[in-house]
This record gives sequence, C-alpha cells and structure tokens, in this order.
Amino acid sequence: EKGTYPHYMLKETDEQPLVIRKIIQKYQDEEGNLTIDQEIVDAVKSSDRIYIVACGTSYHAGLVGKQLIERMAGIPVEVHVASEFGYNMPLLPEKPLFIFISQSGETADSRAVLVAVKELGHKALTITNVPGSTLSREADYTLLLHAGPEIAVASTKAYTAQIAVLSILADVVAKTRGRADNLNLVKELGIVANAMEVLCDSKEEFDFIAREYLSFTRNCFFIGRGLDYYVGLEGALKLKEISYIQAEGFAGGELKHGTIALIEEGTPVIALATQENVNLSIRGNVKEVSARGANPCIISMKGLDMEEDRFVIPAVHELLTPLVSVVPMQLIAYYAALHRDCDVDKPRNLAKSVTVE
Ligand code: M6R
Repeated sequence: EKGTYPHYMLKETDEQPLVIRKIIQKYQDEEGNLTIDQEIVDAVKSSDRIYIVACGTSYHAGLVGKQLIERMAGIPVEVHVASEFGYNMPLLPEKPLFIFISQSGETADSRAVLVAVKELGHKALTITNVPGSTLSREADYTLLLHAGPEIAVASTKAYTAQIAVLSILADVVAKTRGRADNLNLVKELGIVANAMEVLCDSKEEFDFIAREYLSFTRNCFFIGRGLDYYVGLEGALKLKEISYIQAEGFAGGELKHGTIALIEEGTPVIALATQENVNLSIRGNVKEVSARGANPCIISMKGLDMEEDRFVIPAVHELLTPLVSVVPMQLIAYYAALHRDCDVDKPRNLAKSVTVE
C-alpha cells in the first residue's frame, strides 16, 4: 500500500536505499561474503560471450551490467533490446550465456527470445523481481531482485536492484576468476545506500529543478558519457513516460553529429558528470549547447564538481554511480509530471507489464 505517500512511484523511489541493503543481506553467506549459486557462477565463467536481453528500463540496467561484467569479471557482453533480437540475432559464439533482465518476468518480447534460444540449446539466466514468473520458470537459472512489489508503471527500484544484483554477480565471478582487485563491494554498496538516502532527502531541490527547467518546455535532452550516457537514457525514458515531455538521451560527443540542431533558446539539457575520465569532455559538450542557447542543468558527483553545477551527488565508487545518479532522474521526472498534472502512477498508453509482442 501507498501509506502516507501520494504515489507509488515516490514510495518506490524512496525504498531504494532499503532495497540495496536487503539485496546485500540476501546475497551474503554466514561469513558476510557475497555469494551466488555455484552453478550460475560456473555458467557465467564458462561462457565465451554473454548476451543480455531486455526491454525499456531493464535494458538500460543491462547496459550498465555490461560495463560491470566486462570491467570486473573480464567476460565480453552484448546488450540487446528483446523486440529486435528475435529476428536480428547476431552470429553466436560456441558457448553463449543469455541473461534476461525483467522486473515482472512476464514481458512477451523477452520471453519470445528465451523460447528461441532454448530451442537452440543455449543456457539462460533470468534476473527478475517475481519468483515463479514465466521467465524465471523457463530459464535454467534465476537471480531474484528482492525489491518488493513494484506497482508504479515507471520502474524505479527495480532498475537499481537489477544493477546491484548484476554488480554482485560480476564481483563473485571476478573473484573466482582471480580478478579480485581491492573492491569491497559490500562496503561500496553500503556507501551507495547512504548516498541514495541523501538524495531521497533532497526532494525539494529536485521539485525545484523540475519546476525551473521542465514546467513549460516541450522537449528536454539528457547527455552523458560512459555510464552517465546510459543513465541519461533512463532519465529520458522516465521523463517521457510520465510527463509526456519529448525527451532523449545522447552520448555527449554525439550531439554535434546532428542533434545539436534541435537546441533552441531555453532548451533544457540535463548533463550528468560522475565519471572522472570524461569530466572535462562532458563539460565541453555543455559549453557547446549553452553557446546555442540551451539551459543546462549539470548534475555532478562530489570530487568532480564545479561551480556551475546545479546539484552535486555524494561520491560513490565510479562503477556504481548509476545506482545513485538515477535517483535525481527519477525524482525530476516525478515532479515534472506532477507539475504538469499527469497521472504519475498510470501514464497513458502504458501497462505495467507488456505481455504482447
Ligand atoms: O518487467 P520488465 O522489466 O520486463 O519490463 C520492461 C519494460 O516494459 C519496463 O522497464 C518499462 O520500460 C517501464 N515502464 C519503464 O519505466
């Protein structure tokens, strides 16, 4: 139930720190070490390429998951939109492993791919919030999100739970492959949960940003590089889904190849700057759009922040920034939808689970 919250989306956004802590607990062994079923670890380790297949927000979590698995565990990963994969299947290697990411576990586009790859005799792992769901039952292995029911059509806590579970999978596989760098994931995810709390306590600020930048606009761009680009895609999806503002996420460097033509006087551009290696380049992109009249809103991370930034999120490990930087995206979208009198929990034309292809 919603309790004191006006909307499920706000409640579910607020639950994120708790969900992260619960996930840590659920994936810890008695000694406090992170653990994943051995057969899942073996399936991941023995595959020569992982294919993540998902839709919408779960696809965006998959993009982050690719970075985590490749950079931590050293296994190549491709990420595909389920609705395209069925008839656009790439040439598969000898031992592919398929990872289906689905909050509901019922998405028809993803299920169609699962059926197709099972027919080819390949192994599949489903990462889902719903035990016993179709995708969970039909895959060889399941990892649960433990996020609790997600009611609002706009996915929030499932996204962060998906990334947290993917980070645990990447970490456990990395350690068994002797790639145990100094990352203490339990500690880092704890820092993430605390940072999320700070963000959830900053609602007034995001309400204000939404009012200032998004009350009257007809469009909005999200830019970022690397992991920030993926979070920008999710920020744009959240915003268009519930506020009906036309929003698009772009890689910072790609704008000048066409999209910059859309920038007009006052066009809001939300720029994420949480990645040290591209901090100056993304700020260069902000200057490019500002010179064409854009109204930039830079959201950066402590330690990389500069004077012109609109909001600074607390610092977390550089691989885990999406878990934190997505919270302002969710809350800005939420308040933008409220200010525009939209039905936040039940946006038009959408259903919580999409059970048709
Ligand atoms: O249940 P699933 O994770 O498979 O759902 C996938 C998408 O339909 C879903 O993430 C959708 O994009 C959300 N409404 C986004 O907020």
